[in-house]
Amino acid sequence: MNKPLLLSTNNPGKLKEYRDILAPKGYLIYCPKDLAIEIEVEENGKTFRENSCLKAKAISEYVNIPVIADDSGLCIDALDDFPGLYSARYAASLGGYPAAYADLNKKLEGKSRLARFHCCICLLEKGKKPLYFEGDCLGRILTEPQGNHGFGYDPIFFSDELGKAFGEASEEEKDAVSHRAKAIAKLSLYLCL
Ligand code: IMP
Repeated sequence: MNKPLLLSTNNPGKLKEYRDILAPKGYLIYCPKDLAIEIEVEENGKTFRENSCLKAKAISEYVNIPVIADDSGLCIDALDDFPGLYSARYAASLGGYPAAYADLNKKLEGKSRLARFHCCICLLEKGKKPLYFEGDCLGRILTEPQGNHGFGYDPIFFSDELGKAFGEASEEEKDAVSHRAKAIAKLSLYLCL
């Protein structure tokens, strides 16, 4: 029998990634929209763990099934992990991603360009402590955007594992090494043991 899980996002890309990995393992992934739940979560945590937990807790009030939520971002070594938790808000504050690429380039002049994408998933089951599953994807910030695949910071992130920018990678290539895929793989292992 399919086991239900509610994923705290209405982002179709994220939903697909979770469904692709967890559906073959017998999980039926719902999103808030499927259950006519509307929530806005203020992501005011100080860590990826806190934010993923805030998102999971907000939605768990409405249902009696296990809930998962994730939080992710781009962490740049030389900028003390900036933009990190603020990845989406930083780009929005500058008017979009192209402006953020240019601003990061300026900030990185003469500095190390090492960076990683990080993803933290929180699993919340009624009456249990939250559990966290995390994944990283290492690489470098490019001086020029490359390719037009993916979203967000993909065109300026050169993945060490792929040997090319995420912006140039197919969906399948990115899913094989991405921070989110690694965190989902850990969650999947836990759920299926
Ligand atoms: P959230 O996890 O949905 O809150 O997204 C955080 C933000 O981090 C996104 O809006 C992007 O700015 C950035 N980000 C997270 N994962 C990726 C990725 O795989 N590629 C590009 N940008 C990402």
